[in-house]
Amino acid sequence: MRDTQQRVVLARIPVGVPVPEDFQLVEAEVRQPGPGEFLARAVYLSLDPYVRSAIAGRHLGHGSSATGDLVPGRSVCRIVASRHPAYPEGAWVLMETGWQQYAVSDGRDVRRLDPSLGPLSASLGVLGMPGLTAWAGVMTIARARAGETLLVSAASGAVGSTAGQLARLAGCRTVGLAGSAEKCAVVREKFRFDACVDYKQEHWREELSHATGRHVDVYFDNAGPPLLDAALDVLALRGRVVLCGLIGQYNTGIPNTVALAPLIRKRAQVFGLVVYDHEATFEDYLRRASRWLAEGQIAYHEDRSDSLASAPAAFHRLMSGRNVGKSIVVVSAEDEEG
Ligand SMILES: NC(=O)c1ccc[n+]([C@@H]2O[C@H](COP(=O)([O-])OP(=O)(O)OC[C@H]3O[C@@H](n4cnc5c(N)ncnc54)[C@H](OP(=O)(O)O)[C@@H]3O)[C@@H](O)[C@H]2O)c1
Repeated sequence: MRDTQQRVVLARIPVGVPVPEDFQLVEAEVRQPGPGEFLARAVYLSLDPYVRSAIAGRHLGHGSSATGDLVPGRSVCRIVASRHPAYPEGAWVLMETGWQQYAVSDGRDVRRLDPSLGPLSASLGVLGMPGLTAWAGVMTIARARAGETLLVSAASGAVGSTAGQLARLAGCRTVGLAGSAEKCAVVREKFRFDACVDYKQEHWREELSHATGRHVDVYFDNAGPPLLDAALDVLALRGRVVLCGLIGQYNTGIPNTVALAPLIRKRAQVFGLVVYDHEATFEDYLRRASRWLAEGQIAYHEDRSDSLASAPAAFHRLMSGRNVGKSIVVVSAEDEEG
């Protein structure tokens, strides 16, 4: 057992898109578990857009951070020492660790992972919170039906790619919006969307009209304005809009305005989605998604970085839209599944 570990703390409060200089890698002590606690080694750290809002104190349940604070984040971990009867040594768990190699827990807000349900790293994406977010938005809230067209932004990301694939399985035609030709190729080829529009190309609004036939039954919004305005323009009469994310404003905190007139004209229904409301449906979703993954009916794509020291650069990539797929940091390569 190691006595010291690496952790990443805030060197200063980021302004705008976080850059690597906002973070600092430091050495820290590894606390040993007391009675009723266990010590876990982080293997895969999840990088998520909400962490940007959390640092700024703009995310549900998070106070704002100060210089020197551990950066928040959840990891797939292996238990390396335990004094907790329900969490034996060797078990796999998903828990809040922050950006560090080891963390002690008393079991609260910890999920035991079953490696037979799929690759453990997928517990951070398609088989985890982003997957449940997609399931809740597409199936529980929008109730997407066969024959409908679903449009989703950030379509190559963990939530967007899963949303499109779940809609395909429900019999929908699927169109993605993504920020590069490379992302669109992944969306079409790996995630099997019917079409994907690169919104950084000059004539993308025309392409969007063409790809959707200007008849989008469900828009799954991960980005907010200005993509939301473009999506409302091609929304069908009585279309449904699921508001899932506003990544376009997480870096600044400054709300972008959206024109509301199309919502009235189209008699649209708009739904806000918070994944935490849907936790009771997680086990059901996990069983289905694990089977679909094993059968090759759904796929996932990871944007991996290879050490805790690379987390700040990877987070910069995520928050500037340069990740392709679920952003993951491999913190402990020796624990990785073969
Ligand atoms: N409501 C909930 O409960 C809930 C739960 C989980 C996630 N979410 C939200 O779902 C969305 C997707 O999350 P994810 O984990 O799957 O991550 P992700 O899609 O990998 O998120 C990053 C992507 O967002 C896109 N993006 C659009 N505008 C951007 C901008 N101005 N700056 C940077 N990136 C921009 C980029 O893709 P393109 O280049 O393709 O646009 C980027 O690659 C996020 O908004 C997240 O906050 C919401």
